[in-house]
Amino acid sequence: MQVIEAVQGLRRHLVDLRQDSIALVPTMGCLHAGHVSLIRKAKRLADVVVVSIYVNPLQFGEGEDFEQYPRTFEEDVRICEAEGVDVLFHPHNLYADDGAKITLKVHDMDCVLCGASRVGHFDGVVTVVNMLFNIVQPNLAVFGEKDWQQLTILRRMVADLHMPVSIVGSALIREKDGLAMSSRNRYLKDNERQQALFLSQVLRLMQQLALQGKTNKHILDLGLKYLAKSHIQVEYLDIRHEHSLLPSMRMPLTTDRLFVAATIGQTRLIDNMPLLENLEKVE
Ligand code: PAJ
Repeated sequence: MQVIEAVQGLRRHLVDLRQDSIALVPTMGCLHAGHVSLIRKAKRLADVVVVSIYVNPLQFGEGEDFEQYPRTFEEDVRICEAEGVDVLFHPHNLYADDGAKITLKVHDMDCVLCGASRVGHFDGVVTVVNMLFNIVQPNLAVFGEKDWQQLTILRRMVADLHMPVSIVGSALIREKDGLAMSSRNRYLKDNERQQALFLSQVLRLMQQLALQGKTNKHILDLGLKYLAKSHIQVEYLDIRHEHSLLPSMRMPLTTDRLFVAATIGQTRLIDNMPLLENLEKVE
């Protein structure tokens, strides 16, 4: 595996590999089994796999955890090597010395769910992913369903901007007890780790209520009541259309998705699931 830090160095290296298909897996490092599942999917779909590790300052707001974000580069290299990654791109900085003067802007889709509180976050994400696409010029890029809103926005980015890259979604990977894997889970103290289980539990409960024929409004009310007992600081619990991200408050549909975000101690966590799991889709 080649570890490359310079954009020009990466470009030169990829010239020879271009006749093969290239998959990109963008990450911020501190790799776990969720990231590994993306790498494995990329390996199944393309000849050459490029993983990028870059903690993108532009997608962190003031007071967020940019400085503290866990950086475990040596362990990440070991994981990528073991997974047969071809190139690990690890730039120090992707922005001009005098800051980002030109960025991409997301409209409407970033006013809901995580975007409502993390103002500018998705602009930072689409800007850096666009940069990575320009640098690597992959045929496809793999993103996790863990960050469903991010995946939805990136699909829309390549469609609206006619980018020649296929966006591939990959299933959310959980710990055995249901907690969605996240680089931020390592911030959790033991008691907080226990409280974090409320997130996947409330979504499972809401799935059961959907099967019992309750309306989405009723399901959401009961979900919020359940979380109120948890003493965690809930940012949102919502049922929305999986693609448009618009609210869905009538009867459960196969296109509905459950979303939750909460802060536990100092740690902000998110999770999502389909409202009707394992049912055939009616679009
Ligand atoms: P990061 O949080 O490191 O995640 C990198 C990729 O791994 C994303 O596509 C994310 O959805 C996926 N991922 C994380 N946890 C996962 C899990 N438990 N199961 C499945 N996939 C999971 O997302 C980012 O970085 C950044 O915003 C980035 C896209 C790299 C742009 O900076």
